[in-house]
Amino acid sequence: MNAFPRTVHFTGLNAPVRAEASVRDLLVEGAIPPEVEGAFFRAVPDPAHPPMFEDDIALSGDGMVSRFLFRDGHVDFDIRYVRTARYEAERKARRALFGRYRNPYTDDPAAAGIDRTVANTTPVWHAGRLFMTKEDGHAYEIDPHTLETMGSWDYGGKLRSQTMTAHPRIDPETGEMFFFGYEAGGLCSTAIAYCIADAEGRLVSEQWFDAPYCASVHDFAITRRFAIFPIFPTTADLARIKAGGPHWAHEQNRDSFVGIVPRAGKVEEMRWFKGPPGVSAYHFVNAHDDGDLVHLDICLSDTNAFPFIREAGGIHRPQWEIGGGLIRWTFDMAKPGDGFEQRPLGPPGDLPRLRDADQGRPYRAAWYLSVNPQGGPPLAGGPVGTAFNALLRIEPGNGRLEMMGLDPDMAINEPAHIPARDPQSEGWLLTVVDKKTGESTHTSELWIVDAGAVAKGPVARIEVPVQLRPQVHGAWVPAAELAKSRR
Ligand SMILES: [Fe+2]
Repeated sequence: MNAFPRTVHFTGLNAPVRAEASVRDLLVEGAIPPEVEGAFFRAVPDPAHPPMFEDDIALSGDGMVSRFLFRDGHVDFDIRYVRTARYEAERKARRALFGRYRNPYTDDPAAAGIDRTVANTTPVWHAGRLFMTKEDGHAYEIDPHTLETMGSWDYGGKLRSQTMTAHPRIDPETGEMFFFGYEAGGLCSTAIAYCIADAEGRLVSEQWFDAPYCASVHDFAITRRFAIFPIFPTTADLARIKAGGPHWAHEQNRDSFVGIVPRAGKVEEMRWFKGPPGVSAYHFVNAHDDGDLVHLDICLSDTNAFPFIREAGGIHRPQWEIGGGLIRWTFDMAKPGDGFEQRPLGPPGDLPRLRDADQGRPYRAAWYLSVNPQGGPPLAGGPVGTAFNALLRIEPGNGRLEMMGLDPDMAINEPAHIPARDPQSEGWLLTVVDKKTGESTHTSELWIVDAGAVAKGPVARIEVPVQLRPQVHGAWVPAAELAKSRR
C-alpha cells in the first residue's frame, strides 16, 4: 500500500502529519502564570509509512515525542520521532514492515526478530530520566533536552518482563515508581510482572503472578498500603493471532476481577475480588485507603470503548450507546469473600488527571475529559475514533461538577496538571485544543486553564503553527526536575 487508508484512523484529526518540527517563540495570547516553567511532554502516534493492511488502527502509529518548553515567559515547540528499532527498520526500508496491531504473524519477513513496540502512549519522568512507553514492550529512554532517543530501557538488563505498562504510579512521598508488565512472558502469557523502582530509578522488586486470563491490563492503581490490578475481559487468543486475526477481542459475558496486594508485600498475598461481567476501563483516576476500606475510582464503561475490539468479540454496539461513568469501587479488606461495593461519582468520560501530590491518597478534586451535552456530535479522531470536547472538574466527595465545554467543531486532548505556589490555588491545566477547519485540516492551540475554575475557559492560549495529530497521554516536568536530568 502506498497511500493511507481512508478510514477514521487516518483521516480528519487522525490524518498523518509525519513531520518532525521545531518552532521557537510560539505566539501567546493572555498571560502565562509564573508556575508554568518546565516542559509539557506529549506522546503522539503518527505512522511514518502507510500501513501494510487497510484495517490498521491509530494505536499502531509510530511514537512521536512532543515538547512545549516554557522558559522565562517564552514557549518553544518540538516534535521528534522516537527512534525505536521498528522505526529505524522501516525508515531504512522506506515502507511498513510490521503488520497488524500487536500481531507479529502478519509482519513482513524482514521484520523478524525486531522489537515491535512503537513507544507511542505515555511520556514518563522518573528519577531524572524521560521514557516513552507502550504496554507491548520495554520503554525507550529519551534525552529530555534534545528529544534524541537513547535506546530501549530495561533497568540495566535487570527487568525480566518483556513488557512495561504505559501507566506507572509514582508515590509522591517516597519517590518510588510502581509499575507492571502484562504478557510479561510473551504473547498471550497470563503472567503479570509487578515491579518497583526506587527513588534513584533502580529496579528493586520484580514479582510475577498469573492473571485469571490473558487480558489487556492498561492501568493499575496504588494506595499508601496496596497495589490494585483490575482485570477486564478484553482477551488475547494465540490461535486467533497466529491465524492473522486481531490481538484483542472483548468477551461480554466473561467476569472481571480485581487483584489487591499489599504494595510492599508478596504477590502470594494477592486477594482476588470478582467484578461484573463484560465491563471495561482503561484509566483509573486514583485509589486510596480508609481504614480497612480500599477505594478505587475508575472511568468504567459497560463494554470495551474501542470499536475494533468490540467487533472482534462479535459485539455490535455504536459508540453513543455505550453506558458508563466515573464509578467508585470499594473493597473491605476486613471482610471475607470476593464481593465489593459500587457507587457512581460522575458522568462518563476518560483521560483523568490528578495532582501528583494526591497519588494514592484521599483527594479533593480531579479532572477528566467528556462530551459536551450542549455541543453537537463530537469530531471523529483520536485513538478511539471519537474525540472528547469537554473538560470536567469533579469533587468526588460531594459530586460537585464543573465543565469547560467546547464548540462542536473542537476537540480536547488529555490535560497535564501544574501545581501553583499559592496554597489557595488548585494550579493550572495545560491542554491541546484542536479546531476543525476543513475535511482533513485543523488548527491547534495549547490552552492554560485555571484548574479550580475550568468553566471560565483558558487564561492563556498558545498558537501552534503546525498541524498536530491527537496525543495519547502527556506529562508535565517542572524546570527544577528537568535540571536534575541525568542527560
Ligand atoms: Fe492510557
